[in-house]
Amino acid sequence: MIKSLTIRQPDDWHLHLRDGAALKTVLPFTAHQFGRAIVMPNLTPAITTLDAAIAYRDRILAALPPAVDFKPLMTAYLTNGTDPDVIAEGFRDGVFVAAKLYPAHATTNSAAGVTDIRNIDRVLELMADIGMPLLVHGEVTDPAVDIFDREAVFIDTVLIPLTERLPTLRIVFEHATTEHAVQFVREAGAHIGATITPHHLLLNRNAMFQGGIRPHHYCLPIVKREHHRLALVEAATSGDPHFFLGTDSAPHAVSAKETACGCAGIFNAPTAMELYAEVFDAANALDRLEAFASLHGPRFYGLPVNERTITLEHSSQIVPNAVALPDGGEIRPFRAGETLAWRLVA
Ligand code: DOR
Ligand code: ZN
Repeated sequence: MIKSLTIRQPDDWHLHLRDGAALKTVLPFTAHQFGRAIVMPNLTPAITTLDAAIAYRDRILAALPPAVDFKPLMTAYLTNGTDPDVIAEGFRDGVFVAAKLYPAHATTNSAAGVTDIRNIDRVLELMADIGMPLLVHGEVTDPAVDIFDREAVFIDTVLIPLTERLPTLRIVFEHATTEHAVQFVREAGAHIGATITPHHLLLNRNAMFQGGIRPHHYCLPIVKREHHRLALVEAATSGDPHFFLGTDSAPHAVSAKETACGCAGIFNAPTAMELYAEVFDAANALDRLEAFASLHGPRFYGLPVNERTITLEHSSQIVPNAVALPDGGEIRPFRAGETLAWRLVA
């Protein structure tokens, strides 16, 4: 049995850091584990301009604990009215690493998102020309479509036609949750990739209703049937470079989760690498964790790999029950109070 594993420092290619006091609370957990992170732009107001992205990046850097080396990679939030030149200028200046497509009303703070992908044809054409990645929240929003089918319907009705119109556009299918997504991405060229979260690797939809309703297992896209989870585990642990790490850690105050209409999002940042290690260990694939966590993402984004290393040890730890917010509230981490088999030691 492997007792300890040292790998190149990983990066988180899909992360929600929030802002203000919550940013200060959650950022140290990610910066402790990861060298870089792709920071989602779904704040209120959303990050739609270069100035807003630069100011947000400065707030993130100012919120870092002393002497912690962590690089936030900023993204632009696409709207129906996005000016292609603003996106391209931000990419050329090295501020925007990518642009994010939220179908309007698909998830948290997506009301300003895109109501029809054809509204942003010119933006996407320009992104294809300059090699700027499009990050996709891949779900249709039609309430008539069953929530468990929204990802597959998006792939068939939006994503495949998009790749036919713009065959060179670089795309990351964020937080893949289905067999359908795995198959689509696996068969695509190297310009298309997908991130996979720890919670979608560990939970199936029963976890939302285990002995009662479990709001801390509610996220979007929603966790799916067991055969989808198994397809995700197979993809992540296969060594296929299309697939890389993206936690989608998405903190919400407990008061916003444990309520009649709770927010979507799972806060896994405190133990993200330990959770991935658990999945890879169970699949007998710890030798492939480094590629998934630390090599495939930089390769997709054309960035250097990290030079530092991290070490994970097979020794138990108890996940804290809560993380306190400065306003008196708290955030419940994924697996709160449970014992994990792995621990990040350095
Ligand atoms: O569960 C989610 N939470 N999914 C998303 O797409 C957004 C995120 C958030 O921002 O809370
Ligand atoms: Zn997300």
